[in-house]
Amino acid sequence: MRRATVRSLAKLNLDLRVLDRRPDGYHELRTVFQTISLADRITIEYTPGRRTTLAIDGNVDIPGNLILKAAESVMEACRVKGAVRFRLEKRIPMGAGLGGGSSNAAAILLALPVLSGAVLPVARLISIAAALGSDVPFFLFGGAAAGIGRGTELFPLPDLGGHHGIVVSSSVHVSTAEAYRALNRKLTIPGSEPDTGGFQSVLWGLGDDRPDCGWMQSCANDFEEAVFARHPELRVIRRRLERAGARPARMTGSGSAVFGIFGRRRESLEAAAALAPWAERQGVEIHPVSLVGRRRYQTMWWNQLREHISGKLWPPQSRYSKE
Ligand code: C5P
Repeated sequence: MRRATVRSLAKLNLDLRVLDRRPDGYHELRTVFQTISLADRITIEYTPGRRTTLAIDGNVDIPGNLILKAAESVMEACRVKGAVRFRLEKRIPMGAGLGGGSSNAAAILLALPVLSGAVLPVARLISIAAALGSDVPFFLFGGAAAGIGRGTELFPLPDLGGHHGIVVSSSVHVSTAEAYRALNRKLTIPGSEPDTGGFQSVLWGLGDDRPDCGWMQSCANDFEEAVFARHPELRVIRRRLERAGARPARMTGSGSAVFGIFGRRRESLEAAAALAPWAERQGVEIHPVSLVGRRRYQTMWWNQLREHISGKLWPPQSRYSKE
């Protein structure tokens, strides 16, 4: 039996623009993804065998759990069989726009081939990831990345080195599909060009970490107006983070989590301490986080699969593999 315990990180959308509705039912996006230190923990035990059985234990009952779907897809693609047991310790709030389910799925896609001794080309891994969900491919790479198309076409961005922040989660649950519907976007008109000026200026400014610089002021989340109209308490959380000094403070994904970026760790921890009594009164949770760059993300993955890895390719290749 081979076992690994891995951390499955959450993400923020530092910027998120929803353009037209596409003929395939998805929306055309422009977004900046960023991995953060808030994480679930997944233990995976793989025992080779003639038959595949999948079982999951953990502290939550998740409908349509992506872990099992990811395991089925990747084992089929690798042509491996066996008994796989997962233990999920859930810490990333669900239905919050933090990508927890997508991150769990990507974690399985990274770890299971290694544990089962298979080698999958990265292009294959990406297409399996995209079939599981629009945010899953991003978690194969982590760091900061621009996501366009459905969110599955990814371009690396420079790391926002050393930034820290606060994520505020509440009991508000937002359905992603409903949030998209509420935007009521028009269908793509062939030949028309979407206005991406705001997104471009955020990307051009992204390396700048002076306080209150351009990108921090101009970054946006197109879901905020529609989601805040239904859940005004989320706008209050955003204002509270801004008053505590966050630049920017925004909702992530289609909500309901709201984050604030504070720059240095000390500022972020001081703000978290100052906000604690308010959070308790409101019944919301405060999670201090750091932004995790691509190198740190990939090193974390090497370390957590190290004893099973050979070679130096990304994604990690198994030392049980015959290739
Ligand atoms: O891809 P994923 O399964 O995460 O998407 C969930 C839902 O969000 C989709 O069924 C769709 O309604 C909506 N969505 C969208 N456009 C995207 C991504 C998601 O309309 N780019």
